[in-house]
Formats: sequence, structure tokens, C-alpha cells
Amino acid sequence: MGKLKKTILNTAAKIYFALSHSPLRQEEHLDPEGESAATEGMPALLRRAAAEGAVLLKNDGVLPITKRIALFGRAQADTFYVGYGSGGDVIKPYRVSILDGLEKALPLVTSLSEAYREFSKKFPIERGGWGFWPHSYPEMPVSEELAKTARRETDTAVVVLGRAAGEEMDNLPSRGSYLLSEEEENMLALVIKTFPRVAVVLNIGSPVDLSWLERYKVNAVLVVWQGGMETGNACADLLTGKVSPSGKLTDTFARAYADYPSSAFRGGKKVVYGEDIFVGYRHFETKAREKVLFPFGFGLSYTTFSISARYEEKKVIFSVTNTGNTFGREVVQVYVQKPTGELENPARELVAFHKTKLLAPNETEHHELLLDERAFASFDGTRGGFVKLKGEYRIFCGSDVRSAQEIGAFSSEEVLVQPTKPLTYTVPLPSELPVSDRKISFSDVKEGRASVGEFVSAFSDEELEAISYGAIVMNSPLGADGNAGVMGGVTESLRGRGIPPITMTDGPSGIRLNTSSSLLPCATLLGCTFDPSLVEKIYRAVGQEMKERGSRVLLAPAMNLHRDPLCGRNFEYYSEDPYLTGKLAAAAVRGVQSVGVSACPKHFCCNNREEDRNRSDSRLSERALRELYLRGFEICVKEGKPHFLMTSYNKINGVYAHYNAALVRGILRGEWGFDGCVVTDWWMKKGSCPQSGKRKNNEARVYAGVNVLMPGGGYVIKRYQHGGVKKKLGKKGHLTRAELQKNACEILAGILKTEENS
Ligand code: BGC
Repeated sequence: MGKLKKTILNTAAKIYFALSHSPLRQEEHLDPEGESAATEGMPALLRRAAAEGAVLLKNDGVLPITKRIALFGRAQADTFYVGYGSGGDVIKPYRVSILDGLEKALPLVTSLSEAYREFSKKFPIERGGWGFWPHSYPEMPVSEELAKTARRETDTAVVVLGRAAGEEMDNLPSRGSYLLSEEEENMLALVIKTFPRVAVVLNIGSPVDLSWLERYKVNAVLVVWQGGMETGNACADLLTGKVSPSGKLTDTFARAYADYPSSAFRGGKKVVYGEDIFVGYRHFETKAREKVLFPFGFGLSYTTFSISARYEEKKVIFSVTNTGNTFGREVVQVYVQKPTGELENPARELVAFHKTKLLAPNETEHHELLLDERAFASFDGTRGGFVKLKGEYRIFCGSDVRSAQEIGAFSSEEVLVQPTKPLTYTVPLPSELPVSDRKISFSDVKEGRASVGEFVSAFSDEELEAISYGAIVMNSPLGADGNAGVMGGVTESLRGRGIPPITMTDGPSGIRLNTSSSLLPCATLLGCTFDPSLVEKIYRAVGQEMKERGSRVLLAPAMNLHRDPLCGRNFEYYSEDPYLTGKLAAAAVRGVQSVGVSACPKHFCCNNREEDRNRSDSRLSERALRELYLRGFEICVKEGKPHFLMTSYNKINGVYAHYNAALVRGILRGEWGFDGCVVTDWWMKKGSCPQSGKRKNNEARVYAGVNVLMPGGGYVIKRYQHGGVKKKLGKKGHLTRAELQKNACEILAGILKTEENS
């Protein structure tokens, strides 16, 4: 094919992708019924959650505020509630801007806030389009006169700075994106010159440059993140002291973007993970302590705590006392330092954490945390898997990675903790199912009168192939209006057998349908709560909303790591740390699945950059893969038991995730025991894996254990149509009927889980 033709087809495909994801996405969608359309209980729950994940980075006493404030910064009116793309595109009943929230809670300098309201009306924000989202919105120019007029009414200013980000686009290490824009910096400088007391509120989805804190004297910094539909109310609760901040950073804030080790490997189709396991605080605490502005796990409160802890034989026993004057919650974090010998280990690794209840002044909470053997294990393929290496182990406990104190140590001999298989994995070929002469329907399987195998044995080749695709289009007429896709009973004949069409909907921040649903705080914020039980509660409520709206599978939690602060989808993911990610994702899965619907964690794995995401190739060591990028998924699969799982767009060491037999059949199913249904991400590239031989594209996908191609059809353009499995079925080296049967059984296992659960 000629280059020009290829480019035209690719562009057309991208446009189709954008349109099918959300035809009207340039607009913000609100339910015309407003607050009355909100699910009962959700506003209060999400207001609490949004406040619990906010992180107080600095406070010399200016917060909480009870007097009049002069509110600066455009994001007060044009607040960022979530990021852009499939993970943010929720029709919400309402949303509370920071200005609206504060106005109800505190006296404001009204002339100033009115000026911002006017500006925002006169110069409405541009939302860009799919993959061309704004990084920030242009600021209102603030004159000295405007600032001085406001100063006459109060000595206290709050400056709101906001950042967007979105799918299929990364942030930039430049002004207006990772760095302050010139207008923002000018405004900040003017406010600081004019007001003796200045607090900054950051309305962001992942770390941004804060090096200006070393140049400008700011009295307080509160990160409220993108807090979902209750952002403004939560911000008011925090600034006024109704709630004491208790969020902790799930990422390191470094002095400069260039300090993050991944920055050295930015760009290019081959994404070299040259920093290996030294991501985030694993790097900073080991090799570059001086580059840290705010360490992982850090967050202040309006009160103070003292933690006393000891380590006894795999147990951390501690008590936390509120030593200040107001109520608050503390997060106790346990880190381990493993021996460094042939393998280099980080100075700290998070192995356990606990968030206290709300403690009154002088109140103490006692608690114990158990550490399992994996807490001490490093991955070493030459030694057979995860090993506790010979040497000394030191345990640290505290309220952030930097200040955690040593509470114990022990020595160990070498112990193989968890053996693993080599990463090259050849799939044993199944044999064909014995044909059953009974007439079996899916309800017989559900009610235990027949096995899945007996049921599938009667499927024609056409049916076996059909069930391995989702319904051709997004927003399929077979599912709830506005669905991301439908799988399962996608043809008449499959439905005739009793298999229901299964509606799948995005996503991590709430349900994306054509009806309104609650807009949750972004995942970074939920991560900063360090509170799995709160996360579980929130997703239980989302599960209820799914049931009411006809969604069976939530395409969430999204759980890739914050390897690089510029990744456009960081707001959908929790943290730079895999243990925390896994614990929170497992909680989200448990929440959704506790009410009779299903979760589909994503994107498995190493989708840590958006640029060129379905052509990029993440190149990394097996150690980094196992210790970091698979670790969260492992915890989530083992502890959350999701019914579904989604592969990522990218290649991993040369093989696309959706053709990756070693990862899906070998590790996910083989080692971790995942027994649900694996689906692809949406619209995939063709390919194969080294072991799949003549099996290419969908044949290779089925071979690899990736059961369903989503959404199912190709783009309108033929080149992108996948299929053709049946044509070659049974031919030498190609897919066999037995493999397709096994694939159908795995799909039905996922559907059975969701049906049995309902
Ligand atoms: C995203 C997925 C999402 C899917 C369906 C893709 O673009 O990567 O996370 O679930 O679309 O909307």
C-alpha cells in the first residue's frame, strides 16, 4: 500500500475512533434535571471522598481560613473535575466549581470573583477534541489595580491553579502544561506582592512542577486534585477546616521534570524503561534524595500525630496518637529495605499501610499490620522467581517514605518465596470437547444442569468465532444507550442459545452512558486517600448505579503506574507504587462486584505513555515487569477476583499485549489463576506472538488467551476489519476448533460470573 493511502486510512481510522468514542465530546454534558438526578447518598459520599484525598503540602498556619478571601485563578470558575477521554466523559447531574463551593462557605471579595465569572463567560474554555485536549485554560490577566482593590477587603488570598490532561495525548514539559504558564506566574507574583497571606490550591490530576515554591513565598499549598462533581464543596470543607486534610501523596513531587528517571527515555516508538525498577520514590530515596520537593506518602493535617511502632516477627505493631487540637486521620506506612548484593534493591519499598479512624485530640488508635513473604522478595529469574535474598532486612514505619523510622531488622538465608515460569510460553493445545447429544441452553449451565463444556460442544464454527468478537460498534443497539461495547450474545444464534448481550461501560470516574451518573474524583485523588475501604464503598455505590442503568461490566479500575508525570492518563491511575495500586484496585473490584455486577481492570500492561500508544513498544527487564508493572495486577487479581480484564494497546518487549501468550496464558491465567474473561482494549492492531506460528491476528489473540476483540467489528475501513479465523480453522499450523471452544468456555466463564453474581 502506498504511503499516502496508508496515512489517509490511518487518519480516517483515528477520526472514526474519536467519533465512535463520543460524538459530542467537545461539549460538557450535564443532566438537565440537575441535582435532583443525583443518586441518593452519592453527593455526601463523594464530597467526603474528594476531601479525604486532598493533600496539604505546606501550611504555616494560614489554613484553615475563616475570614474573607480574595480568590484568584480561572480554575475557580472553570474547575477541572476530571481529565478528558473515556475515563472522564461522564454525563453528570451537576458539578460544583471551586468558586461555587467557596462562596457558600466563606465571604469572598465579590468584585474579584465576579470578574472571573464574567471572563469565563466571555472567553469560554475550548475543550479541543479527541487527543487534542487543552493542557490548561488561558488565565485572566490581573491588573495591579484589581489586586489592590481586593486587598482593601482582606489580607488573605487563595490562588487556584488547574491542569487538564487526557487520553491519547501526553502532557508537555513546558509552560502551560507541566510548568506554570507565564500568565499564571505573573498573577502569582502579583498576588504574593499584594497580599501578606497566600494559599495556593492545585486542581490537577497528577504531579506538576512546584519548583516555584522555592522562588515565591506562599503560605500554604493544598492539592485538591480533580475531585469529581463535588470538587468545590470538598475544597470549601478543607479550606474552612470542616475537614482536616488526610490525603498522602501517591507520587513523588521532584524539583524538576528532568529529575524523574523516565524523562531520559522520553519519545520514540521503543519506550525504553532504562530506569528499571527505580521508578518514583524507589529512585529518589535510593539515588537522588536531594531532588525531592515532597516525598511519596507525604501530607500534612490541621492536627499533629505521634506514631510509635515496633516490629516483631512479620508483624508491625503500632499506636497513633492525635497530639494536636483538632480531629484528624493519619496514614501509617511501612517500608522495607532489602539487601543489595548481586541485585540492587531500592532504599525503601512500601509493604503495608493503614489509615486510622477519625481521631479526636489525645485519642490513640492501636493496630497491627502483617507482612507476607512477598514483602521481602525480589525477583531474580536466575534463582527461579521471587526470592528472599540472603542478607539483612530493615523495616521502617512512619507517615511518609522520607521520615519513616527504622523499627526493626532481621537477617535471612536465601528462600525461594514464589517460583515463576520462564517468560517464553508455548500454549499446550487443548483437545476437542466431546459432543453432547443433549439440547442445552445457557440457563441449564447457569442452573448447574450442564457444564460449560457440554454447552459449547454444540456450537458451530461460526458461533465459536462470533463469540470471540464484541458487537461491531461502540454504543451497540444491543446494550444500554451510550455503552462502550457489548460482548457475549452478539449474534442472533448466540442469543438463541440463551447467551445475553453483556453491556460494558467506562470507567474509573463513573459510568459513561447517555444517561447521567455520578462523577467520581479522579483515581489519583482516590489513591491519595490511602483508604481501600472508602474506595470499596464508592465503587459499591457505582455498582448500584450500573445495575440501575443496565451496565454489567465497568471498564475499571484503570491501574497502570505513574511511571512518568507527563502521561496523559495518570489521572485515571492511582500511583507510582504498585503495592498501593494493587490494594486500591482490588478494593474497587470488590466494591463493584459486591452488588452483582462486574469489574474489568485495565490496561494489562505497561501502558504508561499515551503518545503512539497502539504502536509503542515498552522495553523492560523481567524484573521491572514482575516487581512493578505486573505487581498491582497480581494483587488485584488475587485479592479482588475480577470477572473480566482488559489488555493494553502497546507492545511489551516486542509483542502486543493482546497477542502476548507469555503474559496472558503464562502469568495471568497460569501463575495467578485468573479464570474470567480477557478482552482487548478498543480497536487493535494486527500482529502475533513468537510462539503462535502461523496463527496471526485473531488466531494469535485466541492462542494467547485474549478471548474477545473489542468492540468487535473493524473501522468502516476494511483494512481494519479483523476476522478470518474460520477460513483457516483446522488447517496445518492454524487455530483449531478445540482452541476456539476453549476460548468460548473462558468467555462464558466470565459471563457466568457476572450472571451468577447478579
Ligand atoms: C480506552 C479504554 C476504554 C475504551 C472504551 C479506549 O480508548 O483505552 O480504557 O475502556 O476505550 O471506551
